[in-house]
Amino acid sequence: MGDPVANYTSRLQQQEGEVMLLQDEIESLRDPQELNFTSSQLDELREENSRLKYRIDILKRSLQEEMSQNDKAMLNINQHLQQIFGDAINTAYPGIENPPLTVTPNQQAKFGDYQCNSAMAMAQMMKAKGQKVSPREIAEKIVQYIPNNELIERTEIAGPGFINVHLKRTFVSKLLSNLLVNGVKPPSLKKKKKVVVDFSSPNIAKEMHVGHLRSTIIGDSMCRLFEFLGYEVLRLNHVGDWGTQFGMLIAHLQDKFPNYLSVSPPIGDLQSFYKESKKRFDEDEEFKRRAYQCVVKLQSKEPDFIKAWNLICDVSRKEFQKVYNCLDICIEERGESYYQDMMTAVIKEFEEKGLVQLDEGRKIVFAPGQSIPLTIVKSDGGYTYDTSDLAAIKNRLFDEKADIIIYVTDSGQAMHFQVVFAAAQLIGWYDPKVIRVEHAGFGVVLGEDKKKFKTRSGDTVRLMDLLEEGLKRSMDKLKEKGRDKVLTPEELVKAQRAVAFGCIKYADLSHNRINDYVFSFDKMLDDRGNTAAYLLYAFTRIRSIARLANIQVVSLRTAAETTEVLLDHEKEWKLGKCILRFPEILQKITDDLLLHTLCDYLYELATTFTEFYDSCYCVEKDRQTGEVVKVNMWRMLLCEATAAVMAKGFDILGINPVERM
Ligand code: ARG
Repeated sequence: MGDPVANYTSRLQQQEGEVMLLQDEIESLRDPQELNFTSSQLDELREENSRLKYRIDILKRSLQEEMSQNDKAMLNINQHLQQIFGDAINTAYPGIENPPLTVTPNQQAKFGDYQCNSAMAMAQMMKAKGQKVSPREIAEKIVQYIPNNELIERTEIAGPGFINVHLKRTFVSKLLSNLLVNGVKPPSLKKKKKVVVDFSSPNIAKEMHVGHLRSTIIGDSMCRLFEFLGYEVLRLNHVGDWGTQFGMLIAHLQDKFPNYLSVSPPIGDLQSFYKESKKRFDEDEEFKRRAYQCVVKLQSKEPDFIKAWNLICDVSRKEFQKVYNCLDICIEERGESYYQDMMTAVIKEFEEKGLVQLDEGRKIVFAPGQSIPLTIVKSDGGYTYDTSDLAAIKNRLFDEKADIIIYVTDSGQAMHFQVVFAAAQLIGWYDPKVIRVEHAGFGVVLGEDKKKFKTRSGDTVRLMDLLEEGLKRSMDKLKEKGRDKVLTPEELVKAQRAVAFGCIKYADLSHNRINDYVFSFDKMLDDRGNTAAYLLYAFTRIRSIARLANIQVVSLRTAAETTEVLLDHEKEWKLGKCILRFPEILQKITDDLLLHTLCDYLYELATTFTEFYDSCYCVEKDRQTGEVVKVNMWRMLLCEATAAVMAKGFDILGINPVERM
């Protein structure tokens, strides 16, 4: 492994040299005395000149980018190739604005390692402008303009105009060594950005249901992704803690536990407490009247009422926390009540800007392009879910100064968020070109019968019951595999939790969140196929290879610095490239927030590793004694690199692997 600084310096020098050469060339073209050309030659030269100027700009830009790049970061090969192809296309066809740029990794080795498919789309674009050029011709011209670079060994044109790219082995090997020495480092951020993720967000006094479980798992993983990438992440639990239902809950509390101000009431089951008070509310006029009074008093913040409200919230909070503890979720509670005082100002702002209409006593706001309005004040003067979300988004934009805001709820709320975002843009709070505000919706959870997820008796499933069943099933599975005979009791419990919670999370994350999702313990605990159980086993196995061969951590560290990662065997090459696709995957999931791509990738990595391990000996043992006779260190390094990337992937998914299972 060369010295990275020297490496980097020599690359800079090379690029600087290139810039100088081009500048000289332009200068000489500018000097008319020296030249004696016909006008058509002059035209050509002018064209060449502008092309070269363009090229200089590109080189300058990439020089700058290189300089700002943290050279410890993993390189995104795909992005790098896109840059090279983009530059080549722009130089070859300066007339085409925003040329289509697609570079994809190749699954079949015979087509090379990556492929650029731009020529076909460009031919279409040119045809539309009346120029008939065959895609093959375009591909040939693009290839001519690819400058010498450290990444590409050679290209070839296939079929109608695919450009197949063969990567340089030495380069791939160098990247793997970098990874081993520096660890799995994210690309450096140009500017520290702030992300608000609004997720989980159950409602006080109501059960936290499977929809909230999905939001919790998906939202947490998004936070982990942004945290890994170096963003400042604010994890917000937008709990429903301020509805009119609190009036009836407080009125009922006053009756059932009159001394609630001095003694904490033992409301064990807030669900039934809620049901009882709802029943009274619907049946008893007097109670209903008192409940409304309670709402008013709560909203004017009378201390006794705030106390009652807090008591009720605490009961729920403790329940929620149990779930968060199991799933290792960190989240800051900032419920609807937090925005209470900001709502009045928000309504005023909309009114002052003339954006409010009256509709049968309600105050509503129509945002452009939206068929349904937001209700910002109800006819009884109360505020709504819409009002609190407007106040919340304003707070996140102006006080939290978020660059990205993500809301994770079921897709049923898509319309609500669409209208809230449109209204926030209407009033001028943000420009979607500058600030990314997104609703990351997801489908509903179904039972194995493909119907809404329910218990056998038709009730909603309590999340703690679900998590406990997960634990039980995971223990059964471990015992079935005889792990209880091999592991210590502590190890067994650790494995049980890792498998149970890992599987529940992974099952959710590995499906495209947009789709409905079938919850099945049998499927998620299966250790074949794309499941956490499989990946956890694969990971522990990889981790154990060095240990079982008695290779010390320090030897691996030294080897990372001194041993070249050879990639001559077809399976070594395949694995090496797969490991290095991690940054590309991170980029994709940051752009579309579809985390299943990461799961698919980890599964592919694990299976690619198995292929490698089955055909390449990492350690060679004596057949009789089983003693290690030879360690193929570069292959041990491939094991290490695989494990390092898998571990980061698990981190992002919120899955905790264990040492032994
Ligand atoms: N409490 C809501 C529910 O259970 C979800 C809140 C989502 N966040 C938001 N800012 N509206 O459906």
